[in-house]
Amino acid sequence: MGYKEELKSILDEAEDEINQAHNSKELNDLRVKYLGKSGIVTTLMKRLKELAPEERPNFGKVVNELRDSIEEILEEQKERITEAEKANVYQKLWVDPTIPGARRSVGHLHILTKVQRELEDIFISMGFSVVEGPEIEESWFNFDALNTPEWHPARDSHDSFYIDENLLLRTHTSPVQVRTMLSRKPPLAIVSPGRVYRRDYDATHLPMFTQMEGLYVDRDVTVKHLKYFLEEFAKRALGESARIRLRPSFFPFTEPSFEVDIYFNGRWFEVLGCGMVHPNVFKNVGYDPEEWRGLAFGFGVERITMVKYGVKDIRDLVRNDLRFLENW
Ligand code: DAH
Repeated sequence: MGYKEELKSILDEAEDEINQAHNSKELNDLRVKYLGKSGIVTTLMKRLKELAPEERPNFGKVVNELRDSIEEILEEQKERITEAEKANVYQKLWVDPTIPGARRSVGHLHILTKVQRELEDIFISMGFSVVEGPEIEESWFNFDALNTPEWHPARDSHDSFYIDENLLLRTHTSPVQVRTMLSRKPPLAIVSPGRVYRRDYDATHLPMFTQMEGLYVDRDVTVKHLKYFLEEFAKRALGESARIRLRPSFFPFTEPSFEVDIYFNGRWFEVLGCGMVHPNVFKNVGYDPEEWRGLAFGFGVERITMVKYGVKDIRDLVRNDLRFLENW
């Protein structure tokens, strides 16, 4: 075999091998094998000395061509491998933007707070303003000024949390009526949401709960207005299908007094007390009962929440169990 054929077969073999190299390392090994210091091509060059002088230039030329060709094949394969390796890295780095991210859970208002604000907004839209009173209250505001006599059960220490003889955790928001009338001149229309306290604890009673008091004082206020506001309130709070009914009742600070039931989802719920402000209450705050008339009402925010959302156990509202709270 002449050296031309020999070189040709070296080139063919080199091309085969190089084109099958999978990565930079394999490729580098092949570069060493063919072009390295003791590589195949380098070794061929050393044969130059053994050749007849006239053969040398031509042999040198074809070996150089062989080296150039192999160099070129190596370069081409190197480029292919680099591309493939890059693609491989990108493949690993690739981010799928359609996969949902890790969500941070954000809290939200407690259902009671939401309902309380909704109810405030309803009354604000009807011209009432929102006022607040202290949770630690003087018994004069909580009872006496509200025409509540000594014998009334609410005054009993079994029902209330007394701090001393004259101070207690208020048992209702009605004392805010008194505080408001003492500090403002009629006419006035207020609602007053806030916490109240009683010695009660079962599926429908909490020792601490939320009431909303309403008071509207003007010259010609009647039971018609009372009924209008409460009906409007029920419809806006629970939906147009809600209805109300008034039943005669008794509260020391109203005359006449009523208990109000709301019809919702096929049932009547007892939800609030109301009435026309008793003349003695007006006298206690220095309003002339001949000149002024007032309507008043008070209801439990928990109660409305339970009716609206079908909550069976009032204690769920204070247990802080996320499985319950996350429903709203
Ligand atoms: N304060 C009463 C209670 O807690 C509720 C109530 C009844 C409030 C009649 C009123 C009212 O303003 O007029 O049971």
